[in-house]
Amino acid sequence: MSRTAKIVLNENEHELPVVTGSENENAIDISKLRASTGYITIDPGYKNTGATTSAITFLDGEKGILRYRGYPIEQLANNASFLEVSYLLIYGELPNAVELQLFEGNIKMHTLVHEDMKRFFEAYPAKAHPMGVLSSTVSSFATFYPESQNPNRNSEAVNLTIQRLIAKLPTLAAWSYKNSIRHPFMYPKNHLNYCENFLNMMFAMPTEEYVIDPVIVDAINKLLILHADHEQNCSTSTVRIVGSSQANLYSSVSAGICALWGPLHGGANQKVIEMLLKIHIDGGNVDKWVEKAKDKNDPFRLMGFGHRVYKNFDPRARIIKKSCDDVLEKLGVDDPLLEIAKKLEKVALEDDYFKERNLYPNVDFYSGIIYKALRIPTEMFTVMFALGRLPGWIAQWKEMTENNEPIGRPRQIYTGHGSRDYVDVSKR
Ligand code: CMC
Repeated sequence: MSRTAKIVLNENEHELPVVTGSENENAIDISKLRASTGYITIDPGYKNTGATTSAITFLDGEKGILRYRGYPIEQLANNASFLEVSYLLIYGELPNAVELQLFEGNIKMHTLVHEDMKRFFEAYPAKAHPMGVLSSTVSSFATFYPESQNPNRNSEAVNLTIQRLIAKLPTLAAWSYKNSIRHPFMYPKNHLNYCENFLNMMFAMPTEEYVIDPVIVDAINKLLILHADHEQNCSTSTVRIVGSSQANLYSSVSAGICALWGPLHGGANQKVIEMLLKIHIDGGNVDKWVEKAKDKNDPFRLMGFGHRVYKNFDPRARIIKKSCDDVLEKLGVDDPLLEIAKKLEKVALEDDYFKERNLYPNVDFYSGIIYKALRIPTEMFTVMFALGRLPGWIAQWKEMTENNEPIGRPRQIYTGHGSRDYVDVSKR
């Protein structure tokens, strides 16, 4: 039975359709509200706005549930490879053995980056933030592969772009790091799997072999899977809105990388370590910094705590906390910042301010700690997030284009000056 909602405006009643999702989430469809009433709705930060319907990821923030295409994140993180999950997100089903082999083979075919692009890297200053390098090099791909700009979105060209993006992003990411320390670039090695290859390009040197530790590979694989999609978050909404103008996939993903860079989104994992360092340099008084986070007149927030949608616990954080413990034990890390992190976690979980507001450590709290233990430089943390989020951005872009969604164009309520006459500069 179709249901409706009623709103009364100036004593006139208007009926609006109710849309129900496959997990019984409900929405009031206001797409025709303006046409029938002249009113729009206002919702800064889109906290209460469904921008689309989507069959990719289900998330229940209250219950701490996250599923990709119906599969619980816990099962995927513990059993699947990142490329398997990428295939699932992008094409809708888990690949069978033949499909997976073909997909992995196609990715391996494209891991090299055009030699001309090396010159871009050489031109960036050594201190260039790798997120800036990543977004601009991804955007440049559209100039190297003009077929990606095909407005008809031919599926063969789209698939090629998808394979190139997934294959080349680790190469670009590792090269942006090597460039920042002015070390020679390491080329991809296709006998290695996706995570091994990335670690090798990051840490191997022409002078010595890099021994790949399976515990580290497993942690990276899990982290990439846990970050692979998160429905309509800031960067994904950016990818969808840029793609809605029929911009090509490289440009849309490049815009997503920029959106992810911010400290309230993907940049939080970098900010976690910077915060721990600040507390350490300040003498390590955790209580003092917790009080600062609670003080409304102090802009300081505990980075890595709280989440826009998880108001109970972050299921990704639960899984990664375990990996974090494994990695720290395996590597025997002894780091004062980790001690501060543990104290902070404990204080914040017991303090009423955090409990009342449901502010728990999120995935970025633990991912930052793991990356630090793996000696991945702080500025690369958000790049790691981008590597993981890539298949989600692609899947969402593909879904949006296949559903022929209209160009994204929100409205506003204007609060500026009324009409006024231009005054010549000499008279102002
Ligand atoms: N430290 C101290 N207080 C906080 C924090 C924090 N990290 N997060 C939220 N609050 C307080 C906030 O001041 C507010 O208090 P009050 O109700 O008294 O005004 C209340 O909690 C609700 O906060 P909000 O800002 O309305 O919540 P939001 O849903 O708009 O923001 C958030 C979510 C993630 C932006 C925010 O919690 C935050 O800034 N966290 C730190 C940054 C961070 O770790 N971001 C990574 C998110 S996970 C990665 C991803 O998926 O992008």
